[in-house]
Amino acid sequence: MRLTFITTTIVAFVTIQALAFFFLYSRQNVIYSPNKQDNNVHILLLSSWRSGSSFVGQVFSQHPDVFYLMEPAWHVWVQMYQNSASVLKMAVRDLIRSTFLCDMSVFDAYMSEDRLVSHLFQWEVSRALCSPPMCDFYARTDLSNDLVCKKHCNRTKFSKMEEACKSYSHIVIKEVRFFELKSLFPLFTDPLLNFKIIHLVRDPRAVLKSRNKSLYALLRDNSIVLGTKGKRIEKSKEEDSNYEVMKEICKSHLLIHDLASEKAPDFLKQRYMMLRYEDVVRDPLKEISAMYEFSGLNLTPKLKSWIYNITHGEGTGSAFKITSRNAKTTSEAWRTEMQFEKISKIQNICARAMNVLGYELVHSEYEQKLLSRDLVLPQRKYKFSWLSSEEETT
Ligand SMILES: *[C@@H]1O[C@H](CO)[C@@H](O)[C@H](O)[C@H]1NC(C)=O
Ligand SMILES: *[C@@H]1O[C@H](CO)[C@@H](O)[C@H](O)[C@H]1NC(C)=O
Ligand SMILES: *[C@@H]1O[C@H](CO)[C@@H](O)[C@H](O)[C@H]1NC(C)=O
Repeated sequence: MRLTFITTTIVAFVTIQALAFFFLYSRQNVIYSPNKQDNNVHILLLSSWRSGSSFVGQVFSQHPDVFYLMEPAWHVWVQMYQNSASVLKMAVRDLIRSTFLCDMSVFDAYMSEDRLVSHLFQWEVSRALCSPPMCDFYARTDLSNDLVCKKHCNRTKFSKMEEACKSYSHIVIKEVRFFELKSLFPLFTDPLLNFKIIHLVRDPRAVLKSRNKSLYALLRDNSIVLGTKGKRIEKSKEEDSNYEVMKEICKSHLLIHDLASEKAPDFLKQRYMMLRYEDVVRDPLKEISAMYEFSGLNLTPKLKSWIYNITHGEGTGSAFKITSRNAKTTSEAWRTEMQFEKISKIQNICARAMNVLGYELVHSEYEQKLLSRDLVLPQRKYKFSWLSSEEETT
C-alpha cells in the first residue's frame, strides 16, 4: 500500500515537473525568439558586378513566399563613398541584418526621414514591393514587371515595408559588396536568424568584358573597392582600375571558397552554396531547383512555366529580358570580341581563382576563338567535406 502510494507520488511529481519544464521552455522560445519561426529563412545572394545576379535575384523575387531586396547596401556606399569597402563592410553587414529582421529604421542613417519606397535603390525589381500590403496593383502570386510596377506603385510610404517584410517567410537580399565571409559569421550564429549564403560566380573574362561596357557607371564603386578615399579615378586610369577591381574580386572568390570548403566552421555547414552563372545559363531549371531546395522554397508550376518561358525567349512582358540563347551568346561574347592580349592579362590576374572555379585558360588567339572547345569545365565535385555524396555537385 505504502509503496504504491510513494510510486504514485513520484510519478505524479515527475509528470508535473516535465509539464512545467515544457511549458517554460516553449514560453522562453516565444520570449527570446520573437522573429524566428521554424520556417523563416534569411538568404544572402552574394555575388559580384555583372555576374548574373540580377537574373538569379529575379528568380527569388518572383516567388510568392519571398521578400526580396536588391542591393540595399548601395545606400551605405553612396553615403560614405570616401571609405573603402573593407571599412564599410560592418555597416553593410549590420544593414542587412536589420533588414532580415524587418527593422527598416536602419535606413534612417542613409535616407531622408520622409521617404517613399521609390527612394530605395532598385525597389521596382522586388515583386513584394509591387503587391499587397505595399501596393494593390499586383496580387502576391502574380509575376511582376519592374517598369509597370515603377509607374503604379511608386507612391507607397517607405514605412510600410516593415509590415510587408514581416508577412513573408523568406527574406532574400542580393549584394555585390562583400569580399569575404568572416564579417558575416555573426549572422550564422545569430539566434534570431536562419542565415544562408548563395555565392554566385562567373568567368572573370566574361565579367571583365561586361564591366568594360559600363565602365563609367562602375567608377564610383571602383573607387570604394580600391580605397581611393573618395578621389575620382583619373581618366587615363579608368580601364586599369577595372583590372585592379577584378584582382580584388578574384581574390575574394578564392578566399570565400577556401573558407567554405577546407576551413569551414561548423555553423557554415549546410548553409553555403556555390553557383556558377554558366551552369545556370546552360541548365536553368536544374540549377534553380537546387537553389530553391537549398532555400526551402517549392517550385510552383507557374514559376516553372515562367522560368521555361524567360529562358526560351517565350512570352512577352516577362520580368527579365534576356533569353537563354541570348544569355549563352552573351556569356561567350568575350571569346570572339575581346583582344587576346586583354584576355591574357585577366587570366594572369585571376589564374588561381579560375582554376578553383573550373574555368579553363586559353593560351593563344586560336584557342580563344575555337568555340567548339568548351572552357567551362564540368561542375567540379567541390571538396566540401560536409556535403553528402549526392549533394556534391552543387
Ligand atoms: C510616380 O510615377 C509617375 C508615373 O511615372 C510619375 O509621374 C510620378 O512623378 C512618380 N511619383 C513619385 C513620387 O516618384
Ligand atoms: C574597353 O573599352 C575600351 C573602349 O571602348 C577598349 O579600347 C578596350 O579594348 C576595352 N577593354 C576590354 C578589356 O574589353
Ligand atoms: C509561358 O508562355 C506560354 C506561351 O506563350 C503562356 O501561355 C504562359 O502563360 C506563359 N507562362 C507564364 C507563367 O508566363
